[in-house]
Amino acid sequence: MKIYLIGFMGSGKTTVGKRLATHCEYAFMDTDKLFETKHNCTIESYFERFGEDLFRKEEALLLRETASLENTVIATGGGTPCFHDNMDWMLSHGICVYLEMSPKALYNRLINSKLVRPLLQVETHNCASLLEIIQDMLSQREQYYKKATITVSGLDVDISGLHALIRQGINASMC
Ligand code: S3P
Repeated sequence: MKIYLIGFMGSGKTTVGKRLATHCEYAFMDTDKLFETKHNCTIESYFERFGEDLFRKEEALLLRETASLENTVIATGGGTPCFHDNMDWMLSHGICVYLEMSPKALYNRLINSKLVRPLLQVETHNCASLLEIIQDMLSQREQYYKKATITVSGLDVDISGLHALIRQGINASMC
């Protein structure tokens, strides 16, 4: 079984993913990290050199390389579900868990983040503040996130409760 964690940047996919993997005794992988290893550069510099369209194509290819994995929790990039039919692909290959958070809660996390996220650079958005950028992007992306098998709040995730929900989700999909 594969468990895909989805959600906006800053929703805690990597942190929750690692904890969930430990709890379930599953392997853990992070598609952003894998992308950086495969392309031997940071996502920030990949965006600068090749742009978002190529990033999305490579991201979709890399996601499909997870098809053969078993018993793995996979943290995805915030935009992964929203391009190249990736959301439907993940739903047909595993369980998708959406870590839902409000724009304000995401803002409070992202304002202090040291990681440079190319799509959140205020200077590339006309006159928008970080909060407005998050509100705008989240409202466009929610239609994909909301297709998830399971939605939980990204704040203070109860890992054993989430594991129980996932097991119910697996049983339901077998009926
Ligand atoms: C992106 C999110 C990032 C990374 C890239 C694009 C997005 O991952 O994949 O910068 O479009 O939301 P995180 O969600 O792990 O920050």
